[in-house]
Amino acid sequence: MGRELKVSVFRYNPNEPKVKPRVQEYHVEEIDGMTVFQVLTYIRERLDPSLLFDFVCRAAICGSCAMLINGKPKLACKTQTSLLPNKIQLMPLPVFKLIGDLSVDTGSWFRMMSEKVGGWVNTKKEFDKNALEEKMSNDLAQEIYELDRCIECGCCIAGCTTMSLKPNFIGAAGILRVARFYTDPRDERNEKDFYDILGTEEGMFGCMSLLACDDFCPKEIPLMSQLATFRRKMVLASLK
Ligand code: SF4
Ligand code: F3S
Ligand code: FES
Repeated sequence: MGRELKVSVFRYNPNEPKVKPRVQEYHVEEIDGMTVFQVLTYIRERLDPSLLFDFVCRAAICGSCAMLINGKPKLACKTQTSLLPNKIQLMPLPVFKLIGDLSVDTGSWFRMMSEKVGGWVNTKKEFDKNALEEKMSNDLAQEIYELDRCIECGCCIAGCTTMSLKPNFIGAAGILRVARFYTDPRDERNEKDFYDILGTEEGMFGCMSLLACDDFCPKEIPLMSQLATFRRKMVLASLK
């Protein structure tokens, strides 16, 4: 018989404001290889069908199941209960709009951020559906791929204290997004254009090097070094 997990879950539905936010405790028997996602599925299927939480892939790919697990932003589908104490506290990610219980709207935040920084290949070339794919070296493709591994889970945003001081800060995910298109030769914006986007308190000068983003990224993107490298490039560009 496995451990008995005592799982405290934040409950609140903004559509029912008369019911105050509360913490509800569930008891779940642990099984081998159990993840927090499986705990939540068990609760929803066997104990409480009203519990709201998000998931799509169950394989750390879609980024939807991020939440605070014992106070730390993590993916529920990637977090093994065996690595946690038997008391588990689950809260929704801060910063993002609460949909209900553990479900938050990361999509609107990422869309807003992407629109703010022009998070796509900015080019005046007309799209030609018959054109061959443009070639680039393997090394450059790899460099762009490294900057493009973000699954938009929001863990770096939720874990960054700067977000509560500067709500318009685009966070590590936003700076990474800009770095990705800065590196892409198909993007026709010049260094000044990129500096105009990022050289502000909402951009790279808002980052206080708190490092939490790097600690919490479930895809292990080396955010700290990526941010530092890009900040150096941008500062050099501004001096030219
Ligand atoms: Fe999640 Fe990492 Fe992307 Fe931040 S950079 S949103 S932690 S995958
Ligand atoms: Fe925040 Fe990461 Fe910078 S935690 S302050 S974005 S180093
Ligand atoms: Fe897709 Fe967890 S369900 S990342």
